[in-house]
Amino acid sequence: MKFAVLATVSAHLPLVALACADHPPRYIYPRQAPSSSEGSTLSPSSSAPAPSTSSDSALGSSSVDDATATGNATSVTQISVSLISTNPTAVPLSLITAQQVSSATVPLPSTATPGVTPSAIPNAPSLPDISGLSSANYPAMDKPPPTNSTEVQQWIQEVQNSGFSIPNISVTVESAACSANPDAVADTSRCWWTCSGCTRDTDIVACPDTLHWGLTYDDGPAFYTPNLLQYLDEHQLKTTFFTIGSRILEFPDTLQTEYMGGHQIGVHTWSHPPLTTLTNEEIIAEFGWTKKITKDILGVTPNTFRPPFGDIDDRVRTIALAMGLKPVIWTRLSTTVTFDTGDFNINAGTISSSQVIENFNEIIGNATSIDTGFIVLEHDLFEQTVELATGYILPQALAHQPAFNITPVISCLNMPMANAYIETNDNSTNPPPSGSLTSGGAASTGSGSSSSSAATPTALPSLLPAQALIVSCIVGALLGVSSLML
Ligand SMILES: *[C@@H]1O[C@H](CO)[C@@H](O)[C@H](O)[C@H]1NC(C)=O
Ligand SMILES: *[C@@H]1O[C@H](CO)[C@@H](O)[C@H](O)[C@H]1NC(C)=O
Ligand SMILES: *[C@@H]1O[C@H](CO)[C@@H](O)[C@H](O)[C@H]1NC(C)=O
Ligand SMILES: *[C@@H]1O[C@H](CO)[C@@H](O)[C@H](O)[C@H]1NC(C)=O
Ligand SMILES: *[C@@H]1O[C@H](CO)[C@@H](O)[C@H](O)[C@H]1NC(C)=O
Repeated sequence: MKFAVLATVSAHLPLVALACADHPPRYIYPRQAPSSSEGSTLSPSSSAPAPSTSSDSALGSSSVDDATATGNATSVTQISVSLISTNPTAVPLSLITAQQVSSATVPLPSTATPGVTPSAIPNAPSLPDISGLSSANYPAMDKPPPTNSTEVQQWIQEVQNSGFSIPNISVTVESAACSANPDAVADTSRCWWTCSGCTRDTDIVACPDTLHWGLTYDDGPAFYTPNLLQYLDEHQLKTTFFTIGSRILEFPDTLQTEYMGGHQIGVHTWSHPPLTTLTNEEIIAEFGWTKKITKDILGVTPNTFRPPFGDIDDRVRTIALAMGLKPVIWTRLSTTVTFDTGDFNINAGTISSSQVIENFNEIIGNATSIDTGFIVLEHDLFEQTVELATGYILPQALAHQPAFNITPVISCLNMPMANAYIETNDNSTNPPPSGSLTSGGAASTGSGSSSSSAATPTALPSLLPAQALIVSCIVGALLGVSSLML
């Protein structure tokens, strides 16, 4: 069916977002309507600051094309997209905009009871009783945690004793924008994915088998996550959620429901910063608190993490591996072909919902032509991103021929769910990281496809993709300036 949507919406946003899309600026967005279902065990639900996380997308490839600058505001135009299947109850695309009024959420599909264990993990410890959970025992939400606490000092000591040697790589500046860090971009030895697509053997950026999609949602748990969980349940789909420590503190029941429902949980930091901009100690604090709150609520600790914005270099990698966390990024075939739907940016007004569908159509076109499976960047943080997932993206994917095999990332690696957590992994097929960056153990799934820019330690990546990106940023900046002058 052909879907033509002609609504034009306008949104106020900093024009810098149009100039160089490698790092969208931080948007503070209004709090959405409280979920009716989240039986909160904490006070923060009513007093928490608005989450200030930004898109994971390091390369928002469509935002430059998609938005037309008109002075202080921009318009994002809905485009015509082809859909092979939609959910009959889907919210019309013309209504999925930055301005849409929040609708009610559905109740959580089930209530997790203390003491139970998930059927997907026979050797799991029993689910903790979180009725006494107190925000006083955790850092402030949505801020990098202090590094001088007893907890963080202990984690720093553990990293020092881990046997990993953290490379002496300088921190990046200005939210890790490639254009602001030419020396870091030129230093290919640091294997900075953000600006070159460089990966190491321990990076998971694709599923090994063709047509196998390692489904992921980032930045939750959030208000509309129950709506996504309901759709996933109805279609017997399981996913990987990369969850933010601050959001877990806000929605602990949702995290328990995800886990008990057979979904995989991975770490997505405490406050969602670009990690290459942080000191070693700050990175340890971000990982440590997110690992800790996840274990406090589930009884298990994830052994994977997704870097916010995909912002990772060898310093971040080494610290993560020293803390038992393997990176999961998303598939990237070239500088311009990244498996990022751009869904996050609808809320900021820099992309239309129909453009996100178009991006997804291109992703599945690319996905069916590569010799591996794939991983796509999507979010469960916003009403808009959940409505697109349940109304359009997942129905499209389920109707696709040949059929996709849609599973959590751990399953697409052909491993049992128990292998996804430090406490339940038997270490036989998924050995914990040890020693050094390149002897991290797990079978490499990192190369994405034969044409990807995966680098081995001895074969350093070409500088060309990074240079191309800088050029595209400059072109983007010129376009932004010229439309500003119109
Ligand atoms: C530009 O945006 C700011 C903030 O939204 C607003 O206060 C100001 O009036 C706008 N200016 C114009 C010319 O639209
Ligand atoms: C950590 O540092 C902050 C600011 O310097 C200080 O207020 C706090 O008391 C310190 N906490 C500990 C546990 O030392
Ligand atoms: C790390 O690198 C910086 C800048 O290159 C240098 O000044 C510093 O001495 C180095 N530190 C160590 C411990 O090697
Ligand atoms: C990915 O899709 C785009 C647009 O559909 C196409 O131009 C490009 O050749 C594809 N790239 C690969 C590597 O398949
Ligand atoms: C697997 O490795 C972890 C981390 O080294 C360790 O804590 C755990 O006991 C190991 N599990 C088994 C079954 O050996």
